[in-house]
Amino acid sequence: MSLLVAASPKDCSKKGFHLNKKLLYGFSALLVSILSLVFLVWLILHPTKPEFYLKDTAVYELSLASPPRLLNSTIQTTIISKNPNARVGIYYDQLRTYAAYKGQQITADTALPPFYQGHQDINILSSSLNGISMPVAPSFGYEVSRDQTAGKLYLELKLDGKLRWKVGSWVSGSYRIDVDCVAVIVLRPGGDPGPMSLVQGTQCSTTV
Ligand SMILES: *[C@@H]1O[C@H](CO)[C@@H](O)[C@H](O)[C@H]1NC(C)=O
Repeated sequence: MSLLVAASPKDCSKKGFHLNKKLLYGFSALLVSILSLVFLVWLILHPTKPEFYLKDTAVYELSLASPPRLLNSTIQTTIISKNPNARVGIYYDQLRTYAAYKGQQITADTALPPFYQGHQDINILSSSLNGISMPVAPSFGYEVSRDQTAGKLYLELKLDGKLRWKVGSWVSGSYRIDVDCVAVIVLRPGGDPGPMSLVQGTQCSTTV
């Protein structure tokens, strides 16, 4: 009687080990197939970052008071945005644009309304950028007059915010998006920078 009792727990533990091993194998197989399914879906849908082009930029005002070096500027810009994905939509949030010259911000931020971009859709983002009495670096006046002599002014147009991918009814978390465009402003003889100094479409660099 006592022998039987002693043998029973040993038997039980052996059986339990077998069961655990089977469960472990089953669980790993399930995990591997789930992971490969997720990977396959990702491979098929793999979102490509949106493309941005600068359609046109017009500088209406760029006047510097000196001293103190305070800049007033009025710039109008149109950026074209394209979603190259056939199966992925994009939500844009907290978008803002501003203009910079040689790395210095020269207009205030202009907020753009949030929007949804469907599969392979194209959206036109127009913004009016204004700077009122913006302080600029001492070199600003010198740099602008040098560009005026050359007849060309390089303006940087920045767009940044957040995006979320949409696949079917699933929406991803937020990712930062940074878009940098360069506008070549052709100055009229005499160096007057505006109005209506237009540039043709150039591709912008996009970082997500
Ligand atoms: C910039 O705009 C402000 C406000 O309208 C004005 O007082 C200032 O004189 C302007 N500065 C220049 C350089 O035009």
